[in-house]
Amino acid sequence: MERKTPLISAEDLQRQAEIAEYIHEFWQKQGKTPVAYVETYGCQQNEADSEQLRGLLQRCGYGFTDTAEGADLILVNTCAIREHAAQRVFGNVGALVHTKRRHPGQKIFVCGCMMGQPEISERMKNSYPHVDGIFSPHHLWQFPEHLYRVLIRHKKAWAVEDSAGAIAEGLPTVRTNKRKAWVSIMYGCNNFCTYCIVPYVRGRERSRLPEDILNECRALIAGGYRELTLLGQNVNSYGKDLGLGTDFADLLGQIAELDGDFVLRFMTSHPRDASHKLFDVMASHEKIAKQFHLPFQSGNDRILKEMNRHYNRAQYLELIAYGRSLMPDIVFTSDVIVGFPGETEAEFEDTVSLIEQVRFDALFTFIYSPRPGTPAAKMPDPTTKEEKNRRFDRLVAVQNAISEEKHRAYVGKTLRVLVDGRDGDFLTARTDGGRLVRFAGDDDLIGQFANVTITDSTTWSLVGTAAP
Ligand code: 5AD
Ligand code: SF4
Repeated sequence: MERKTPLISAEDLQRQAEIAEYIHEFWQKQGKTPVAYVETYGCQQNEADSEQLRGLLQRCGYGFTDTAEGADLILVNTCAIREHAAQRVFGNVGALVHTKRRHPGQKIFVCGCMMGQPEISERMKNSYPHVDGIFSPHHLWQFPEHLYRVLIRHKKAWAVEDSAGAIAEGLPTVRTNKRKAWVSIMYGCNNFCTYCIVPYVRGRERSRLPEDILNECRALIAGGYRELTLLGQNVNSYGKDLGLGTDFADLLGQIAELDGDFVLRFMTSHPRDASHKLFDVMASHEKIAKQFHLPFQSGNDRILKEMNRHYNRAQYLELIAYGRSLMPDIVFTSDVIVGFPGETEAEFEDTVSLIEQVRFDALFTFIYSPRPGTPAAKMPDPTTKEEKNRRFDRLVAVQNAISEEKHRAYVGKTLRVLVDGRDGDFLTARTDGGRLVRFAGDDDLIGQFANVTITDSTTWSLVGTAAP
């Protein structure tokens, strides 16, 4: 099969690199190192995008600050998944009018998924005159050009044209964490779940070539990274567009076979394409964390159909059972939506019973949020807000009781954890399954693996002491 989504050409990338160099010199001539403030909303994919934007900013000569006040450049990377996130962005971008007034040379850019929605980017363009530039995820790699237009040409930069999407290899990256790295393996989504805005703002599925991903992973491991998380909106359809015969399970296995002491994770999986082969590969490689984030969204078959999910409750439960048959301690986490249009009380009860049956280790619960332009936004939705809130509270209570019990069962066990930071008197760390562990210890353990004996637990975390 012919590759449908060409890479951005080397010449086009080179042109952006030259523009970045020009901007760098522009600042050098002024004897100044400008500072940028990058604010990121949303998912890990957006975090990964912001790391590339920081990379491009650094190439343009920018350093970084953690406050908008006084920054020479503010970049707001937005999320469109639920209305609440979008409202916060409008509020926060609106408030930047004051920081800009105090620092008139300041340049403000807004990017990310919200800017992939035409009516939202129009509103940003028309009602927020202090914003200098906006661009959608498809136009991220051209950031030096947008910046040049604003900074050197004193014009506004708008780059929001829709596209099926392409792949820009080799963009510079400034990673926020020294031990944990995101590795995007693919972009976009073809699933068109009826509630979801992602396919509209991030384009069609397109996979990076296996050798590009493997080279990036090798370099990260050599650079001391201890945890690699492979990212994609739907990692299980990795490779379908490449036609090389490498699927996600193959890629995962190849990365897990690289030399070095690291943990390999991935997200997010769609149950429709999650294969037994993937579980087999997980079970046969020590370096792959025994953690699986497998969003089920609803426990009711009619709602799953309305959501266009292409699996049913029985198939979902079969996947969970297969995973547990190979890896009895595998950690399953999931996403669920309550109050999808037309969801009845009985259909909601199917979701509760699925949670009780599977007993997830953690659950991310969302109240349905209509996204303009998606099919579900046009479906009749007679359920009141109060009723939806009640269903939400009920799910959270059911899951909290399960999480608490599961955590209690860890007391007395000794676990290998990766220490990721400090919170007050305790070091914070994650188990193989991604659970938060707190224990007393020295800062030199940060970034290292350690053994911890669990002594206590809460709904959200485990508490322990360092073990030999
Ligand atoms: N409303 C509520 N939740 C949503 N999600 C995606 N779209 C919506 C929406 N319109 C949830 C899904 C997805 C997670 C990332 O966000 O559960 O898995
Ligand atoms: Fe991530 Fe989706 Fe939000 Fe975009 S809309 S930032 S892809 S969660």
